[in-house]
Amino acid sequence: MKDIAFFKKFDDLDTESKYLVHKAKDAAAHAYAPYSKFHVGAAMILEDGTIITGSNQENASYPLCMCAERVALYAMASMNVGKRIIKMAIVANKKGHKELTPAASCGACRQVMVEFEERQHKPFEVILFAAEGKWIKTPSAVSLLPFVFSKENLDTDSKK
Ligand code: THU
Repeated sequence: MKDIAFFKKFDDLDTESKYLVHKAKDAAAHAYAPYSKFHVGAAMILEDGTIITGSNQENASYPLCMCAERVALYAMASMNVGKRIIKMAIVANKKGHKELTPAASCGACRQVMVEFEERQHKPFEVILFAAEGKWIKTPSAVSLLPFVFSKENLDTDSKK
């Protein structure tokens, strides 16, 4: 929880974070979520100002559903834009409801986000609309997933 900032109001966030939240809201409108009716949007800003977004994409075969965060991250990686992620914002709303509903990223997405930080050798901030209507800003994805499993655990040459 170290260095994680909590904000009671949206307006208390910095300008860039508010902008990204708006982009994430726009992305949530493109969710394909006929099963959960839970629409999630993720928006990232890269170091050159490029915005990359994703929304959750579901399937009648439920385990194949993909979270908004991973849709955005994998899209960015496969486009090979070669720029670091500075910040990601994630929001959600239930179908037919304009107001946001809390949705902290799931564990699987946190795991993937952490490996993206490792790949770019730099953390990125994460903005979440979480429980009790609080906005959360973390300095890194890894701060959301202590004791993360990483490639170092797979290093068979390691004496650690
Ligand atoms: N979902 C996300 O897109 N991101 C998360 O971090 C949590 C859950 C999606 C997956 C599924 O389509 C729906 O929300 C309900 O779990």
